[in-house]
Amino acid sequence: MMRAGKMARIDIHHQGGAEMKKYKNMKSRSSDEFGTPEIAINCLVPYLPESWAIWECAWGNGSLAKHLSKRGYNVVGNPDWDFFTFEPEHYSCIVTNPPYSLNDEFLERCYILDKPFALLMPLTALEGKKRGSLYNLYGIQLIIPNKRINFITPTGEGGGAWFQTAWFTWKFNLQRDLIFVNL
Ligand SMILES: C[S@@+](CC[C@H](N)C(=O)[O-])C[C@H]1O[C@@H](n2cnc3c(N)ncnc32)[C@H](O)[C@@H]1O
Repeated sequence: MMRAGKMARIDIHHQGGAEMKKYKNMKSRSSDEFGTPEIAINCLVPYLPESWAIWECAWGNGSLAKHLSKRGYNVVGNPDWDFFTFEPEHYSCIVTNPPYSLNDEFLERCYILDKPFALLMPLTALEGKKRGSLYNLYGIQLIIPNKRINFITPTGEGGGAWFQTAWFTWKFNLQRDLIFVNL
């Protein structure tokens, strides 16, 4: 769904001054750097109100932000903002594809920030002791595409995805907890 007639905008604010230094993650893998292709947002956009300002909190090379912006959303973010130490002043929701090795940490912080979120994560992120207790405590709703998404590797080379991903959402007030979508 295209959102014609609205100016696409990506805000690169430098809020927070000294707080914003490049993040140091406890662990990282090359798959942590995979970018999100445009097709991945096709199943999310119908459930993402166009009035919501989006914080893309794991910016990377800006791939997902660019696609959201192209659809007319106001997206804030910056590759230098460490998700664990910085929060922009103004945003309505979080939409991101978090680094895989930090799924638990991103998920937990999203709940704590208490804004609607949509995280693109492997379906296997339904498993796990820590995630299970977070889902139990706060709730979770999924938008599940009928195909695997081929992510963009740091070298730009494509490759068949070896896992199925879904949008893990909270406070999107979906009509059902599991929504299956044809991509
Ligand atoms: C799977 S990539 C996705 C990039 C982008 N969100 C997208 O969908 O195209 C995850 C990104 O999160 C970044 N990242 C890792 N730790 C982070 C942190 N603490 N705060 C913000 N971003 C982080 C990584 O450098 C990587 O670029």
